[in-house]
Amino acid sequence: MEKTHKILEIEDIHTYYGESHVIQGLSLFVNAHEAVSILGRNGVGKTTTLRSIMGLTPPRSGSITIDGQKTIRWPAHRVSRLGVAYVPAERHIFPGLTVKENLKIAARPGNGGEPCTLERVYDYFPVLADRTNQDGSTLSGGEQQMLAIGRALISNPKVIIMDEPSQGLSPLLVVSITEIVKDFCVGSGMTLLVVEQNYRVALKVASRHYLMSTKGKITGIATTQELIDNQQIILDHLAV
Ligand SMILES: Nc1ncnc2c1ncn2[C@@H]1O[C@H](COP(=O)(O)OP(=O)(O)OP(=O)(O)O)[C@@H](O)[C@H]1O
Ligand SMILES: [Mg+2]
Repeated sequence: MEKTHKILEIEDIHTYYGESHVIQGLSLFVNAHEAVSILGRNGVGKTTTLRSIMGLTPPRSGSITIDGQKTIRWPAHRVSRLGVAYVPAERHIFPGLTVKENLKIAARPGNGGEPCTLERVYDYFPVLADRTNQDGSTLSGGEQQMLAIGRALISNPKVIIMDEPSQGLSPLLVVSITEIVKDFCVGSGMTLLVVEQNYRVALKVASRHYLMSTKGKITGIATTQELIDNQQIILDHLAV
């Protein structure tokens, strides 16, 4: 059995937009092969946390360690080359490329274990196989979300970071995306950090949860079982 180690560790980061001090001293970690969520209301800094990790909105201070490397001042492309895939809420499908081209451009060899291939993505998302030659930007919102997730998976990352994968999807699609994320990422030993406002999705997908209150402050950490046993924790942190 491999010893548990932190593949992602954030220590006391402070992130700004101009003079606006949005993340005020955030610390968290994710163990290798663990699925972790960040839960919190609108505007508390969840997306900014993910952007801080990716180097898209670099923190002014603090430390971020990914797979043993101090990445705090790394540009985003370097962070992603280290093996971190980011699925932003706004999806970013490349226009002018077909579904298949969108996937192929993202494909990278796996680093041990069974790699995710085009065939596996199409197995999980048959609707993408049906639309393989369609321009990715003309897919429906839900289909684009599947393509965005497929693109992240096929890059065979060490860590996959998702911002509200259930956002804007019909309830039925929320269920299937949730199952796919759980089965595919968690089931195949990937490490997942997911941001969600839909705590039902978070409880299904992740096993440990950070509760974020205002300005990136973590006010609670709980396992899925603890949140199921004590719904009040969720209400205290997430009730609008
Ligand atoms: N580009 C920006 N410039 C200035 N302020 C910003 C920018 N992006 C976000 N903010 C502010 O930073 C704070 C945190 O935003 P962030 O998007 O991280 O929140 P969030 O928790 O992801 O919210 P939501 O659940 O609505 O997605 C908010 O007050 C927001 O208005
Ligand atoms: Mg957000």
